[in-house]
Amino acid sequence: MKHFLDIHTTDAADLRSMIDSGLAMKSARLGRPRGAPDDDQPLAGHMVALIFEKPSTRTRVSFDVGVRQMGGQTMVLSGKEMQLGHGETIADTARVLSRYVDLIMIRTFEEATLQEMAEHATVPVINGLTNRTHPCQIMADVMTYEEHRGPIAGKKVVWAGDGNNVCASFLHAAGQFGFDFTFTGPETLDPEQKFVQFARAKGSDVLIERDPHTAVIGADLVVTDTWVSMHDPESAKERRHNQLRGYQVNETLMAGAKPDALFMHCLPAHRNDEATSAVMDGPHSVIFDEAENRLHAQKAIMRWCLGK
Ligand code: CP
Ligand code: NVA
Repeated sequence: MKHFLDIHTTDAADLRSMIDSGLAMKSARLGRPRGAPDDDQPLAGHMVALIFEKPSTRTRVSFDVGVRQMGGQTMVLSGKEMQLGHGETIADTARVLSRYVDLIMIRTFEEATLQEMAEHATVPVINGLTNRTHPCQIMADVMTYEEHRGPIAGKKVVWAGDGNNVCASFLHAAGQFGFDFTFTGPETLDPEQKFVQFARAKGSDVLIERDPHTAVIGADLVVTDTWVSMHDPESAKERRHNQLRGYQVNETLMAGAKPDALFMHCLPAHRNDEATSAVMDGPHSVIFDEAENRLHAQKAIMRWCLGK
């Protein structure tokens, strides 16, 4: 069963071929209306369940549109409205859904929920974000970097802010795609050691640098994300803002990176908190290409899962 659960648990050669296939599919569609079918219709006759236990704009729309372009059909399910939200086990839900659909994408809270779904499903399962990782996002980010600047291998990526789920998948990607990674943020919000260790074990140069201005020197890509994630308690907001204010990505910070450095943010953003509008809408920013590439990267991921 080819589940797409995380970047570090997927074969590096397969990850590479997914990026290349996403880029090829994107260029094959240039100029076509968004709803126009792809020529090859690899998902014809396939039904895909998209389960959301948290809000989503990009993941929801990009998966739905991607499946339709490839000739399949989708059903978007909210966790709360399913029996899953009323006491039915994940395992039973996985077994039942596997009798109706060919592929399951789930966005959930606990990593254990995703693991249990994958363990009991008899169809592939895709991680659409958990509290700990967001692999589809980082596949789109790698694709976006390479589309603009060529191979990401050997480049320096700097993450500023909270060492969260998106940061974790970036560390996995650093190991699998061979780029270096510097985290800059307060110690209390460091990424988990096991994510850092994975990247280092694969040969990536991972640094933790408390001074953001030192961190960005020589950066090819500067990335940030919201200071308060969907799984963080609302009560943490004020403390986090105080801790993270010094790590805002603004024009002064970007000026310390390489002149051709890119800026990314997975969105949704809190403009003028983690990054200023001047940076988000400025010459380094590729945030909307990044959002678009969710569509193309995930189409490649779904094809890989289904052996298409
Ligand atoms: N970046 C991302 O996953 O966005 P959504 O929460 O809108 O899906
Ligand atoms: N870190 C954010 C990413 C949203 C796409 C969250 O988990 O809320």
